[in-house]
Amino acid sequence: MSLRAIKYENNSLEILDQLLLPAHSKYVSIKGVEDGWKAINKMQVRGAPAIAIVGCLSLAIEIKHEKVDSKRDLRQEIEGKLNYLVSSRPTAVNMKKAADDLIALANRLYEDENINLETMKSRFISDIEAMLEADIADNKAIGENGAKEILLKFPGDGLVRILTHCNTGSLATAGYGTALGVIRSLHTLKRLEHVYCTETRPYNQGARLTAYELVHDKIPATLIVDSMVGALMKQRNISAVVVGADRVAINGDTANKIGTYQIAVLAKYHGVAFYVAAPFTSIDRKISNGDQIIIEERPDREITHVGEHRIAAQGISCWNPAFDITPASLIAGIITEKGVFLPEKLKECFQ
Ligand code: MRU
Repeated sequence: MSLRAIKYENNSLEILDQLLLPAHSKYVSIKGVEDGWKAINKMQVRGAPAIAIVGCLSLAIEIKHEKVDSKRDLRQEIEGKLNYLVSSRPTAVNMKKAADDLIALANRLYEDENINLETMKSRFISDIEAMLEADIADNKAIGENGAKEILLKFPGDGLVRILTHCNTGSLATAGYGTALGVIRSLHTLKRLEHVYCTETRPYNQGARLTAYELVHDKIPATLIVDSMVGALMKQRNISAVVVGADRVAINGDTANKIGTYQIAVLAKYHGVAFYVAAPFTSIDRKISNGDQIIIEERPDREITHVGEHRIAAQGISCWNPAFDITPASLIAGIITEKGVFLPEKLKECFQ
C-alpha cells in the first residue's frame, strides 16, 4: 500500500504528522484553517504541493461546517482565510498560486446571479477537492517524462544511479511525488540500479522521510550525509541528480531545500546532469529571476538540537535559511507534467 500523507474522506481531514516520522505513524485531525496554518508552519505537513493541498482542504472543511449568511460574507471569508494560509510559509509558491486561483473563482461565483449561496459553497469546495487527484495525475506524468528524459542518455537496457535531495515523495504531495516520482518510474521500468538520498540537514527530510519512503517501496537506496555529495559524484558514477522545487522563476532559477545549490555546483563540476522536477503550480510566472524569491529562515533550534538533544556549543549563533536558489545555468532541464523544458524555454509556455 502506498503512503498517504493526506487523508480526506467523509468530510474530515487528517494528515500524517511528519514531525513524528519515522518512529511513529500518527495522523492528526485538521478541523479548520487555524489547524491547517499551524500544521504547515510547524512542518507537520511540508513539501510545496502538500502545503497547498492541506491549506486549501483546511478551508474546505471550515466552509463545510460553518454557517455563512450571504454570498458576500462567503467571498470575504474565503479571501481573508486564503491570505492567512499563504502567510504560513513564504517560499513555496503553490499555496499562493492556489489562493489566487480560488479567490478569482470565489469572485466569479459571487458575481454570477444564477448561483445561490449553497451552490457557491459546493462549487468552491469541489474545486478544492479536485486538487488531490490532479496532483497525483501530474506527478505520474512528471515521473514518466523524467524517466524518459534521463534514459535518453542511457540507451539500451542499462541501469542508472540517481541522487536526490530532501523529500519530494508521497509525503510532500498528494501521492507518488515529483523528483521521487521520477525515481519511482525508473524503478518500475526496471532501469534504476540505485538511488542515493541526502540526509538533508538540519530538518533531515532525507534521512527521516525519503529514506522511509524508499524502504517502504523496496527501492534500492543508500543514505548519505550532505557533505558526502562531492565524494559520491567522484566515486560512484552518478547518472543524474533529480530534485524538487518550491518556486521556479520564469527564467528557470529554482528555490529548493537548502543544499540544493551546492549539489548543482558539484554536478556541473563532475559533468552530472542536474534536473528539477516540479508541477506547473510551482512555476511563478510573476517573477523574472530567483533574486526575487523570499527565503524562509527557521529557528536556530533546528541546527542546535537533534530532537530534544542539544548538539551545538552553548552561546553559538546560527543562520538557518530553509531554501537556496539554484541558478538556471546549472539546470539541465525542468521536468513537468507537460514535458521537459530547458530553463530558458520555460517562459514560452506562458506566451
Ligand atoms: O521545508 P520543506 O520540507 O517543505 O521543503 C521541501 C522541499 O524543498 C521540496 O524539495 C519541495 O517542496 C518539493 S516537494 C514535491
